Amino acid sequence: MHRTTWVEFNSKALRHNAAMVRRLAPESAILAMVKANGYGHGADWVADQLRGIVDGFAVARHSEALTLRAAQPNSRILLLGTEVDDGLLQDCATQKLDIVIHELGAAKLLANTILPQSITVWLKLNTGMNRLGMCNKDFCEAHSVLSGSPNVAAIHHMTHFSDAETDSPAATDRQFQLLHSLSTSLGEFPVSMANSAAIIRHPQTHLDWVRPGIMLYGDDPTTHLAGVDSLLPAMTFKAKVLAVREVEKGEGVGYNQRWQASAKTRIATVAAGYADGYPRQAPDGTPVLVNGELARLAGRVSMDLLTVDVSHIPSVNIGDIVTLWGDSKLSAAEVGRHCNTISYELFTRITARVDRVYL
Ligand SMILES: Cc1ncc(COP(=O)(O)O)c(C=O)c1O
Repeated sequence: MHRTTWVEFNSKALRHNAAMVRRLAPESAILAMVKANGYGHGADWVADQLRGIVDGFAVARHSEALTLRAAQPNSRILLLGTEVDDGLLQDCATQKLDIVIHELGAAKLLANTILPQSITVWLKLNTGMNRLGMCNKDFCEAHSVLSGSPNVAAIHHMTHFSDAETDSPAATDRQFQLLHSLSTSLGEFPVSMANSAAIIRHPQTHLDWVRPGIMLYGDDPTTHLAGVDSLLPAMTFKAKVLAVREVEKGEGVGYNQRWQASAKTRIATVAAGYADGYPRQAPDGTPVLVNGELARLAGRVSMDLLTVDVSHIPSVNIGDIVTLWGDSKLSAAEVGRHCNTISYELFTRITARVDRVYL
């Protein structure tokens, strides 16, 4: 098929990044975050590539868990915080899904239902994110309601950090202490806290299970990994040049002529727009690579197209390849910084019409 707009997924990069998690947290089991379709990389593909390298997978929606289970009959799959009802619990039991219990009502429901098989539960403590998770009192009550229940195969304890990527460790230390002391007061249970940033910057939080997401896909939210420790981009977003033209000084480009030529300029029109997942909010000056050379956006991103100033790259021609992100010279994080967003959002917004190429 004729291809103008595509994402390449690199299994070597994915496995390199997983190996980096293993190196940084050698004593911990790894629960790979493959929610949101593997951060846009394809949950089935990611799980397939990482099977045998990591120790389980986590998703955020019931539908994601069922799809992944069909592809991964024997892997541990954790369903993160969701609404819990009897139907969901039955499904978790028959599909062998671990489940996060983040509120006391769900713990009581689990204790009082009749299941064909017991479930492993991950009790979530709210330590400061104030999103999901129980207060100390409810956590202890949930723990006591579920310990000894025939419906519960094992209890894990978890929390999620709000600030692990920042330069100030105070919030993370506080969150760590809150779960650590509560968990040890209840006995010896597997504990999980660390997301990517904590894996990289807060080794004391690694404990029994780490939960890397974004670092598997090649972005270091702390920007601390460098040199041989660098992560590799698992996704590269590419599109072709569809047209090249010269505009005269004083002419505008694109909708509302937001970008104005201050001198005669060569403009390349590229087959990627917001309907492909390139952010519409990208300002003039956002970097792209044209045939590997840095060039900058000139004009508003439209539904199917974007425009780039290529005056300094005279060889540019129709059919040439533009890398929008996912290269050692241009990370998704850098594009995100220009667009007031993060790589997580860029990755998960690639739309269905973009071709997927698995390397
Ligand atoms: C509960 C939970 N754990 C771990 C992660 C992974 O975070 P990151 O992608 O920053 O590693 C997430 C992602 O948002 C999450 O919601």
